[in-house]
Amino acid sequence: MSYKSIEEIFKHNEKWVKAQLKADPDYFVKLSKRQKPKYLFISCSDSRISTEVIMDAEPGDVFIHRNVANLVPSNDLNTLSAINYAVKHIKVKHIIICGHYNCGGIKTAMTTSDEGILNPWLRDVRDVYRIHKQELNSIKSLSKKYDRLVELNVWEQCINTMKTRDVQKALAEKRIQIHGWVFNMKTGRLTDLNFKAERLAREIMDIYNLFE
Ligand code: CO
Repeated sequence: MSYKSIEEIFKHNEKWVKAQLKADPDYFVKLSKRQKPKYLFISCSDSRISTEVIMDAEPGDVFIHRNVANLVPSNDLNTLSAINYAVKHIKVKHIIICGHYNCGGIKTAMTTSDEGILNPWLRDVRDVYRIHKQELNSIKSLSKKYDRLVELNVWEQCINTMKTRDVQKALAEKRIQIHGWVFNMKTGRLTDLNFKAERLAREIMDIYNLFE
């Protein structure tokens, strides 16, 4: 929807409030009670991804963190705080890292352009490229390479969540699962990349383990 003015958004908000109250007079009483979502959803800021819409979920179902190219950088207080709050305090049962094909951030990271403040941010994606350079360089089609980098980026961000203290504790206590998904906006479908934290833990946690 393209709003003609900011005021129009408030009119739509009012329309939405009335529709909710008509369907359920206690809707906002229920909504204002403590949130207890089971899912932490980390996705790209891209305007075409609407978490609740694609999951067919309701407000209150999903704790959401979004940034350019759905990254979990080691030094980003914003992402790390969202993970900490979701895992330690809300005690979500699932962390979902959801990338998407046609991601502008990933595409930009595949080029050599100087993007100013985005340079250090996109460097994390370039690091993903470096780790998987052999596989990516063997893909001849540029669009397939682009799609694969989207998937590998999700995979590496799933691993990055495992490097955090809170997630390591939750995994050890077997109270959390990590999922890597990709959203295809040409079909509307979500794909599960079948990230298995237990298997990855055996491969890499001798390096990243913060306990024992
Ligand atoms: Co994106």
